[in-house]
Amino acid sequence: MHQLIAHRMSGITSFYVMELLQRAKQLEQQGRDIIHMEIGEPDFATPTEVLAAGSRFLKAGDVKYTAAAGLSELRRSIAEYYQQEYGVKLAPQRILITPGASGAFLLAFGVSLNPGESIMMADPCYPCNDNFVRLFGGETQFIPVDAGSRYQLDGQLIAKHWRETTKGVLIASPANPTGTVIADAELQKAIQQVSIRGGCFYADEIYHGLVYGDPLPSALRYSDDVFVINSFSKFFGMTGWRVGWLVVPEAFVDAAEKLAQNIFISTSTHSQYAALAAFSPENRAELERRRLEFKLRRDFLYDNLLRLGFKVACKPEGAFYIYADCSAFTGDSFQFARDLLEEEGVAVTPGKDFGYNQAQTHIRFAYTASIDRMTTALTRLERFICR
Ligand SMILES: Cc1ncc(COP(=O)(O)O)c(C=O)c1O
Repeated sequence: MHQLIAHRMSGITSFYVMELLQRAKQLEQQGRDIIHMEIGEPDFATPTEVLAAGSRFLKAGDVKYTAAAGLSELRRSIAEYYQQEYGVKLAPQRILITPGASGAFLLAFGVSLNPGESIMMADPCYPCNDNFVRLFGGETQFIPVDAGSRYQLDGQLIAKHWRETTKGVLIASPANPTGTVIADAELQKAIQQVSIRGGCFYADEIYHGLVYGDPLPSALRYSDDVFVINSFSKFFGMTGWRVGWLVVPEAFVDAAEKLAQNIFISTSTHSQYAALAAFSPENRAELERRRLEFKLRRDFLYDNLLRLGFKVACKPEGAFYIYADCSAFTGDSFQFARDLLEEEGVAVTPGKDFGYNQAQTHIRFAYTASIDRMTTALTRLERFICR
């Protein structure tokens, strides 16, 4: 039967960290204490307000499809959020509710990418991006980035690497795995460079809200003709609910709605009702408490990783990751991650999950564990590297 699998699947990669996660679960079943710093999701439970709204809706029992583009109340609430948070006026019609940012990527590339066209993105970056591009017959142009541009693409890099087949540019800020943020002026220049070349600009803003310095502007502040990918998963702490959104340029509204009808019918209805509660003042206050906790954890982990001899080229300004250079200890970060898990029960993500650029000498630590748990993890890490 194997010969029946579509050819495109040979290019689709899985996460190396899943291998580690599976092993971590096995070890846990054997009674080992494993500290999870590999997982890209907040360790906090769904906020109570959100949970209550979702449960109320489910109890009423009338769980039907919504419109393909999502509940109009939720689209309006998101539009209001853009007004309040970013000072951006956005027509709710341009917002489509999707099964997470992942669904938003499917729609965004589905309506804009032709086979043979390429999308430029930073290396390292979130691994699924490349697979979404491949799914639509496109090609990823990975551009190696470093501390010089805070691990982000900028106007200059875009101009330098643009080629005939380039359809657009994807920027994630704050980024996964580095947690770095693109400067406002650079974001503006990047959008300009894409616009003068007649391409598409995709802004992955999933980690917006989880920033530890000044709040970030949305790409929508600089242009209406951009795709913005966002989600309730990270800042709003709703990973498993599978609800996110996509903002499309006006010209793409009909196409995106048509594609959503076909590939999703609609996003999970109870999750949309739950998400409506995410904007209440009580929930926003809870999210702020969580953000401050993440900030404490970032500072704690950053200081301690440096103390142990890891190098971090840019102190992360957002998300919940630290991308650390482990070249003082190993030239094979995958083996390092495997051994750290086996010997000390600490799970981290090896660099090769995020691309090719210096992947062998980098590890991503997620501070999605409490300071107490991270203290134990650091003791074990210190013992491991001093061996
Ligand atoms: C940068 C980035 N974009 C998108 C996603 C997808 O998130 P979701 O589909 O849960 O909204 C993730 C998840 O880790 C991510 O890190």
